[in-house]
Amino acid sequence: MEEKQKKSYEDITIRECLKTIGSEVKQFKGASIATPLCMILEVLMEMMIPMLMARIIDRGVEAGNMSVILSTGGMMLVIAVMGLLAGMGGGIFGAKASAGLAMNLRSKMYRNIQTYSFSNIDKYSTSGLVTRLTTDITNVQNAYQVLLRMAMRAPMSLVIAMTMTIIISPRLSTVYLIAVVFLGLFLFFIISKVTVYFREVFEKYDDLNASVQENVSAIRVVKAYVREEHEKSKFNKAVENLYNMFIRAESLIVMNMPVMQATVYTCIILISWLGANAIIQHELTTGELMSLLTYCMNILMSLMMLSMIFVMLTMSMASAQRITEVIKEESDLKNPEDPVMEVPDSSVDLAGVNFGYNKTAEEYVLKDINLHIDPGEMVGIIGGTGSAKSSLVSLIPRLYDVSEGSVKVGGIDVRKYDLTVLRDKVSMVLQQNNLFSGTVLENLRWGNEEATEEECMEACRMAQADEFIVKMPDGYNSRIEQGGSNVSGGQKQRLCIARALVKKPKIIIFDDSTSAVDTATDAKIRKAMNEQIPDTTIFIIAQRISSVQNADKIIVMDDGRISVVGTHEELLKKSEIYRDVYESQTGGTGDFDNPFD
Ligand SMILES: Nc1ncnc2c1ncn2[C@@H]1O[C@H](COP(=O)(O)OP(=O)(O)O)[C@@H](O)[C@H]1O
Ligand SMILES: [Mg+2]
Repeated sequence: MEEKQKKSYEDITIRECLKTIGSEVKQFKGASIATPLCMILEVLMEMMIPMLMARIIDRGVEAGNMSVILSTGGMMLVIAVMGLLAGMGGGIFGAKASAGLAMNLRSKMYRNIQTYSFSNIDKYSTSGLVTRLTTDITNVQNAYQVLLRMAMRAPMSLVIAMTMTIIISPRLSTVYLIAVVFLGLFLFFIISKVTVYFREVFEKYDDLNASVQENVSAIRVVKAYVREEHEKSKFNKAVENLYNMFIRAESLIVMNMPVMQATVYTCIILISWLGANAIIQHELTTGELMSLLTYCMNILMSLMMLSMIFVMLTMSMASAQRITEVIKEESDLKNPEDPVMEVPDSSVDLAGVNFGYNKTAEEYVLKDINLHIDPGEMVGIIGGTGSAKSSLVSLIPRLYDVSEGSVKVGGIDVRKYDLTVLRDKVSMVLQQNNLFSGTVLENLRWGNEEATEEECMEACRMAQADEFIVKMPDGYNSRIEQGGSNVSGGQKQRLCIARALVKKPKIIIFDDSTSAVDTATDAKIRKAMNEQIPDTTIFIIAQRISSVQNADKIIVMDDGRISVVGTHEELLKKSEIYRDVYESQTGGTGDFDNPFD
């Protein structure tokens, strides 16, 4: 097996977990206090039963006194009902407190995840976050419930029952002491083994969720490549791993029962034997023997419960750490103290910019970038995959912060702006883009809820999306399915462009946003934008030179550096890379639609 990687959440201390998770009990404090109180009441009632039982036998049955039997029996009934009610109360309050804690934890976690920056999100996988929001919280919820109900009850009933047996018969209680020590050691041994397995089980859940997440969301790709069998066997393996872990853990736990029962019965035999002798010598009454036997069961049961609590707590410890990590994670992009609320113009400046995703990596992804863009310019960016085109533009709306140097929009450092203001004015159509389930209009209004229908249509006309939207069954009110699965790739891209235009930004960035749109439509989109929003600075990352040919500036990226900047004509003269790409795309004819190859 490969060496196990240390998980980032393992550094989180128990204290931190208790503090973070404890503060989410909030409005359920009352229920959290009521639960153990109910349980204490239940124990007290339960512990009185054997004493009353002894009284019935010794003073009632043996003395033939019917009135003692009736009055004590009546008392037993009242006490039993009270114990029952207390137990029920404990159950109800416990469920309320633990379900409430889970609810608060979930919404706290969810709200915090919404504040994450891109680099915070890079740290967790989607499936990891889903496991934490579901399975991990359920673990903590269960542990909390057990803790509230048992953590007071078990030790208390242990102590009371022990005290009672010592009072009744100091000599016979040594039998319990030996049994308790024996059982205690045995349980400790099992727990230490089982918790290791359970910890692993929850790590395996991550793999399982990852597999589900990836394959269900990419099910079309899986089908297109006929990878179903491969994916099925991968999934089966993950499920089987989980099965094996559970079986191993549970097969240890089931040993509890026989050992426990053997101990109980040994105790009963020993006590019956020793007790019978004591009765003959008038050191013990029959009733007392009966109650000793009941306390015997109580003691061993409490011990069992204690061990269960222990297992639950260790099992949920990793979950608690994983939850705490997500809640405590702070967005590393913070709004400044005194943010600038207005973007003065649409110029962009990058000065001495170095940037890396990973703070510890040796080499930067973007190296020594210097760039000045005038307001209203159209800028094309071209370069091989991995040449850091997307990274370059993601610095402008401050999706990431530079490692060195500065990025300025409208002459002001992006770190000085209010984030919402900046991102409203710098609109980016991401390379991997998403539509959401809802109508076309709802999707368009994502960036600007106040946009009128007319404004939305105008944006769609500019993005050349209007033509297919009006042909949809309900026009602008047609439904888009989750992830935009009911529109074609090119249609989806045009909708995403329209969505960005609805915001009426000062700067708009297209990251390979027309790759699935035909060249003629692509040209129409650019022409429309040129005519209708001439003051908007536009960045276009593209594979096709035809998409950037008419730009005011074309930036050629090469391995994280700006290789050369110029107009199409200048670059054809200056840059060999550019000329090569151009010729390969046009077959040397200068005509993109009729390439030779
Ligand atoms: N979120 C990320 N976390 C870590 N590395 C990344 C991330 N995104 C991109 N990279 C790395 O940065 C480099 C540049 O990627 P990118 O800017 O996406 O290139 P391009 O858009 O030109 O194809 C690549 O080596 C890629 O592996
Ligand atoms: Mg890219």
